[in-house]
Amino acid sequence: MALIAPSLLSAEFTNFAAALEFLEQAGADMVHCDVMDGLFVPNITFGQPMIAALRKKTKLPLDVHLMVQDPGRYVAEFADAGADIITVHAEACTHLHRTLQQIREKGCKAGVALNPATPLDVLEYVMNDVDLILCMSVNPGFGGQKFIPAVLEKVRKAAKMIASTGREILLEVDGGVNEENAPELIKAGATLLVAGNAVFKNTDPAAAIRHIKGDTLL
Ligand code: DX5
Ligand code: ZN
Repeated sequence: MALIAPSLLSAEFTNFAAALEFLEQAGADMVHCDVMDGLFVPNITFGQPMIAALRKKTKLPLDVHLMVQDPGRYVAEFADAGADIITVHAEACTHLHRTLQQIREKGCKAGVALNPATPLDVLEYVMNDVDLILCMSVNPGFGGQKFIPAVLEKVRKAAKMIASTGREILLEVDGGVNEENAPELIKAGATLLVAGNAVFKNTDPAAAIRHIKGDTLL
């Protein structure tokens, strides 16, 4: 079993309120919010005002994935908007340690995301400062891409790193996650799965949520 954070990137943009209502009823654990700046990644999505709007419509935790260059500039604003988890990319931070501190000082859980090609080594000296590690299993910027299999081994290694700390650190996987690869990811140690297309483009989105979480394996 894992937690699931469906990504609104694949939901109907003109009706996020309906998506939130559906996610609450379908047993989603969190809502994954993909913030893109058109600089760190080619695409642009939405920013702090959208997080504030979502906050008013749901009690589910908001898992905010900042695909933004120098995200420290915006951490306080996203926290004030109502984010519960703020995840920044190691590749986008000149001062990663400081940015993680800023997130925690605002009372949010601090996450670090790594692109598929980024080694886990960058986490070595910030393990005490993270509450979540996000292994990207596609190159960030778009929903609906194909899962990169090499990330499975990375998830196994990350799970070992987490175990050696003795702390509870969420291990999130994001990109191309679906009902087929979710069991392998959970076996590898993933504890939080993001799914965009596999949920919202499914003919039975509620069943997809259950299957990806691993409910049907019990
Ligand atoms: C990609 C985003 C993902 C995306 C996942 O840049 O970070 O969260 O929404 O979508 P799927 O599950 O369709 O790959
Ligand atoms: Zn994401």
